[in-house]
Parts: sequence; C-alpha cells; structure tokens
Amino acid sequence: MKMISPSLLSADFGNLQRDIEMLNASACDWLHVDVMDGLFVPNISFGQPVVKHIKRHAKKPLDVHLMIMDPGRYVADFKEAGADILTVHYEACTHLDRTLHSIHDHGMQAGVVLNPHSPVALLEDSVQLCDLVLLMSVNPGFGGQKFIENTYDKVRQLKQLCLRKNPSCLIEVDGGVNLQNAPLLFEAGADVLVAGNAVFKSPDPAATILALKQ
Ligand code: DX5
Ligand code: ZN
Repeated sequence: MKMISPSLLSADFGNLQRDIEMLNASACDWLHVDVMDGLFVPNISFGQPVVKHIKRHAKKPLDVHLMIMDPGRYVADFKEAGADILTVHYEACTHLDRTLHSIHDHGMQAGVVLNPHSPVALLEDSVQLCDLVLLMSVNPGFGGQKFIENTYDKVRQLKQLCLRKNPSCLIEVDGGVNLQNAPLLFEAGADVLVAGNAVFKSPDPAATILALKQ
C-alpha cells in the first residue's frame, strides 16, 4: 500500500480550515495530527479542542499521533474529539497492552510509535495488538528535521516481524520524509508516509502529495 498522511503541524494554524479543505481535495489518505505535551517532547502543539475543529472540516480519517506521557489517560477524550486512528509511544506507556486494548474498546485503530533509539524487537509482544506501527525517522517534537538514515533498516526489520506475527499491520514512517526518500521507504516496506514540511512548504502541496505517492 502507498498512503500519505500529511502532518498538519506544518499547516498554517491561522488558516487551518483552508489547509484541511486543500487536503480533502488532494490524493492524501489520512490527516496526521501531532499532539505534544511539552513533557514527553520539548514542544507543545495543541490538544483535543483543536482536534475537534479539525474533525469538523476533515473528510478523511484523522491519524492522531500522541506525543504525550501516559497517553492511556486520554483515550476517551481523543475518541470524542474525532480520532479514527490513535498512536501512542512505546516509551510513554507503562501499560502498553492495556492502552492498546482501550483504544480498540473505544472503536479506534491502534498503533504503537517507536522513537529512533527504540529497536523494533521491543514490539515482539505487542505487534499482534496493532493495526499499525509508526517508526519515527526524527526525534519527535518538531517538523522540518533531517531524516535518520537507519530508518530503512528498521522498516525492513519491522516488515519481517509483521509477516511473522501480524501480516495486516501497516508500517508508517514519520519525520523528514521527502520526494527523494519516499520511494525508498515504500520499497523497504512502508505503507504510510507522514509528510509535513515536504507538503506544506512546497509551492503546490496537492501536486507534492501525488508525487510522494508515486
Ligand atoms: C514530529 C512529528 C511529525 C512532523 C513531521 O515530531 O511527529 O509528524 O510534523 O514533519 P516533517 O515531515 O516536516 O519532518
Ligand atoms: Zn507525527
């Protein structure tokens, strides 16, 4: 599968409705929504009230990436705000198994996110509970960072793990994705690519989304 989930973190927050409508009309598959708490990551982005407004205008599934400590506390809130897919960091969950079950119990798709320093092998006992796994290809917290090259290897390792334990699990990559590395990531086994700056800082975001998919 070749899917694109543009990250609204790089959109114009003063014109969110305009940017969401552009995405509605584009070839993108999901809308990537980055929630940051200033604790798990150094930055603060936005929370449920903003997600609710994004949901009002979005015509595609909301792929909500929680960069917050102990995200299990907020599963019900993000369901209510309109999340369709909820991903939580392995590094932020004491009881990951419980949190993944809770996301499913609330009727959402569930995913685990790994930071660049976390090996794929950490997912041996949780990949079977995942609809997707998100590999960070930058240290989370900010858009516009440089892609970390060993991500290709991690995608290949994760693909093997998924084939062994959960073949329907999707592989998503987030951070520094651009027109140069996108084809290589898809070739390595990625299904969904998140792109912030590559889309929103380009002169023609809709055309860039289409180009990233090909
Ligand atoms: C980073 C976020 C990313 C970010 C990606 O912490 O999780 O989703 O918006 O932005 P780019 O594509 O510009 O690296
Ligand atoms: Zn993200």
